[in-house]
Amino acid sequence: MIADLQQLEKDALAELKEAGAEDSILAIRTKYLGRKGLLTSLLRNIAQVPIDEKPLFGKRCNEVKELLETKIEEALKSQAQNKKEEILARDKIDVTLPGRGVRPGRVHPVVQIRREICDIFASFGFSVVEGPEVEWDYYNFEALNIPQDHPARDMQDTFYIEDNMVLRTHTSPVQVRIMEKVNPPVRILSPGRVYRPDSDVSHTPMFHQIEGLLVDQGISFADLKGILTAFLKKVFGDDTLLRFRPSFFPFTEPSAEVDIRCVICRGKGCRVCGQSGWLEILGSGMVDPAVFKNVGYDVEVYSGFAFGLGLERIAMLKYGISDIRLLFENDIRFLKQF
Ligand code: PHE
Repeated sequence: MIADLQQLEKDALAELKEAGAEDSILAIRTKYLGRKGLLTSLLRNIAQVPIDEKPLFGKRCNEVKELLETKIEEALKSQAQNKKEEILARDKIDVTLPGRGVRPGRVHPVVQIRREICDIFASFGFSVVEGPEVEWDYYNFEALNIPQDHPARDMQDTFYIEDNMVLRTHTSPVQVRIMEKVNPPVRILSPGRVYRPDSDVSHTPMFHQIEGLLVDQGISFADLKGILTAFLKKVFGDDTLLRFRPSFFPFTEPSAEVDIRCVICRGKGCRVCGQSGWLEILGSGMVDPAVFKNVGYDVEVYSGFAFGLGLERIAMLKYGISDIRLLFENDIRFLKQF
């Protein structure tokens, strides 16, 4: 019997040594120490042991039992430890690798220019107002002294929604909407989207304009020149040269187009200014009395000036962008440069 015990101890320890997974260690525990286990049944047979060997046999049984319990416990522990290390090794992260980084957003160049211009005119006492992009024919054309047969109404130049409703082709209708509502003095600036069926390197079907309007008593062309000169010097620098060129708009009289000396070639003549040395920047003029009559202003008392400019054009000149469409492609490589 003692020999059986010895053999059992040897077998159990050998099996334990081989066992790797938690399952097999637990199986060994059941096999030897369980209620129907080998050691348990050996102990149950103590009656068959000769009387003088009984104490020794009992003692050895307990020793083997304790030894196996300890060894099994140890095996379980080291198995758990191995498992933990394995998981740690598998989930290891290399903290020296560069991170993905969070790319901060940016303000679109057109919005930057819009804010800059609004800030400049706010410092001149202008307030910002907005008007609808889907506009009545009346505000977009009629009230601005653009009669029914005017070429600007040609289907090719205007997106029509209905017979008497269009996508506004300029921000000038806001002039009328404001003057209908408030009495002079008026000093407003109106940025927004406008639409024309054009598409090439310098035209997109949707673009942005800013309209300016100032009406009060005793306003003259000198005020127009003064304000627009101060404004353009703030945007393009103090050494900016301006040229007021006679022009025509149905809603201003007299009208002037304002050019600045080419910011690229400084007047020498280049591709951007078409060799002229000048860049057309905005349209302007003294508000036509016909417009004042349409909104019920007394033309004997009030006078004023208005101007309109394209934001994309300013952004392109200021940042040296050669194709307007780049502004609307939303390519991050382009946008992150501003
Ligand atoms: N609305 C004109 C345009 O789109 C610009 C302009 C505005 C001209 C105000 C004079 C006065 O071309």
